[in-house]
Amino acid sequence: MKAVILVGGLGTRLRPLTYNTPKSLVPVLNKPFLEHVLLKLKQHGVGEIVLALSHLAPLIEECFGDGRRLGLDISYVTEKSAMGTAGAVKNAAEMVSDTFFVLNGDIFSDLDLSAMLRFHKQHRAKVTIALTPVDDPTRYGLIETDGYQRVTRFLEKPRPEEVTTNLINAGTYLMEPDVLGKIPALEEHSFERQLFPSMLKAGDAVFAFPSSGYWIDIGNPEKYKQLNFDLLSGKGGQYGFNRGDQIALGHGSHIHPTARLKGPLMVGDNCTIGKDVIITGPTIIGPDCRIEAGATISDSILWQKVTIGGGCSFISSIAARGCRLEESSQAHGAVLGDNVTVSQGYVLKPGESVEPGVTKG
Ligand code: GTP
Repeated sequence: MKAVILVGGLGTRLRPLTYNTPKSLVPVLNKPFLEHVLLKLKQHGVGEIVLALSHLAPLIEECFGDGRRLGLDISYVTEKSAMGTAGAVKNAAEMVSDTFFVLNGDIFSDLDLSAMLRFHKQHRAKVTIALTPVDDPTRYGLIETDGYQRVTRFLEKPRPEEVTTNLINAGTYLMEPDVLGKIPALEEHSFERQLFPSMLKAGDAVFAFPSSGYWIDIGNPEKYKQLNFDLLSGKGGQYGFNRGDQIALGHGSHIHPTARLKGPLMVGDNCTIGKDVIITGPTIIGPDCRIEAGATISDSILWQKVTIGGGCSFISSIAARGCRLEESSQAHGAVLGDNVTVSQGYVLKPGESVEPGVTKG
């Protein structure tokens, strides 16, 4: 079974984390996000993967190679410029010849893909769209169905008074290969706004498969943090890292005996955690980080090679690769791009977002 995964978007809402790192490679539990998605696909017998690339394509190819490391067969198609969700799959048309999955590459769920495939076949659907319930459907694509689960209407980002259901497009589809004939070649084209509504008008068999399990899109920093913390606490459906407040320490990491650590906490390889440091979970610390004496960290994510200086306070924040907080500086709800420096004693504004390479203070 094959899946085409869309990983070519700019990820603008997840900036400043995604200027130099594609959304599919942002670390989740210290592994590239997409690796978690690929392992889920493998669990459901999806062994052949096509990654549809555009923005920062070489980084993704370099990370996953031919897929052998994960026991998968991975190939790549790259657009010269982003072709939109449907355009990207059209670009991969030569690589599919049977029923195939399409996944938005920024979604993690415990959707039962095997049950979805059975549903698709039973209904002789041309396209099956997974649905998931959300509290506020106004930021998503709402999908209405009849009593037989056949799609009757699509409504992208509805106004509050237009909301008739809390079920939205979960960004996972099953498709028959002949559907690709309906997408214009070499043009930007969208599933949600163009292909699916036009198939509905033409009377094509478009069905919806509802699921009530875990589902999240890591579109913005809050959601990105939530996925990390959910998986760390064992809340990601069948996929949980642990249950409760465990502490996982990487190889070669050194923790000073006076440091106080409270889980759930993950510390990557080769980290140093100094005297009287207090770290409260949920927190994830990437490899090669250095936390100096008396620093306090809670509810945060550090990527690799981050230094938190002595006496710093780093609360509910994210620091990308190579950030350095000098002694006694403070961050609360901050999101720092790669290689940001926060000068000694500087207090970032609550919720401040800092672009890569900037020095604050
Ligand atoms: P924002 O800029 O923050 O909206 O994020 P995004 O660029 O990722 O867009 P969006 O969240 O709508 O995309 C959903 C999924 O489709 C993501 O996994 C994107 O990487 C992917 N995607 C969106 N547009 C394209 C495209 O033109 N080409 C390819 N290959 N993938 C795309």
